[in-house]
Amino acid sequence: GKVLVLHGPNLNLLGTRQPEIYGHETLADIDDALRARAADHGWAIDCRQSNHEGELIDAIHAARLDGTGAIIINPAAYTHTSVAILDALNAFDGRVIEVHLSNVHKRESFRHHSYVSLRADGVIAGLGSRGYHAALEALIAAG
Ligand code: DQA
Repeated sequence: GKVLVLHGPNLNLLGTRQPEIYGHETLADIDDALRARAADHGWAIDCRQSNHEGELIDAIHAARLDGTGAIIINPAAYTHTSVAILDALNAFDGRVIEVHLSNVHKRESFRHHSYVSLRADGVIAGLGSRGYHAALEALIAAG
């Protein structure tokens, strides 16, 4: 299989950004661990982060054409605002799993609604970086 991992805005600051909420691991730590896990299973994995909505959309469009079978996405703040990312995911035929490091439902009410959840096949929140691993394991198990 081939999976795209997409991280949205501000996630490049992981490790230093509100560590009490988002943890001490950096994004590179998370991506390295995911790459190792995917490689163990012979899966191809591409991990990308962008602070720009349009770049995230372009990456989803590219995934429609390059054999990507699944997308693991933490849209970060765009979760709660972006019809455009929802529309792009709706144009992608593979599996989509939405991941949030924090439990968004325990936080401010504006974080309780997700546009992306209207498309996601699965949603994981509040497990920290383990959420990305759970998503990857689920995809690998499903084949
Ligand atoms: C987040 C939760 C969002 O509400 C927030 O804007 C983020 C990160 C998470 O991973 O917990 O930037 O998606």
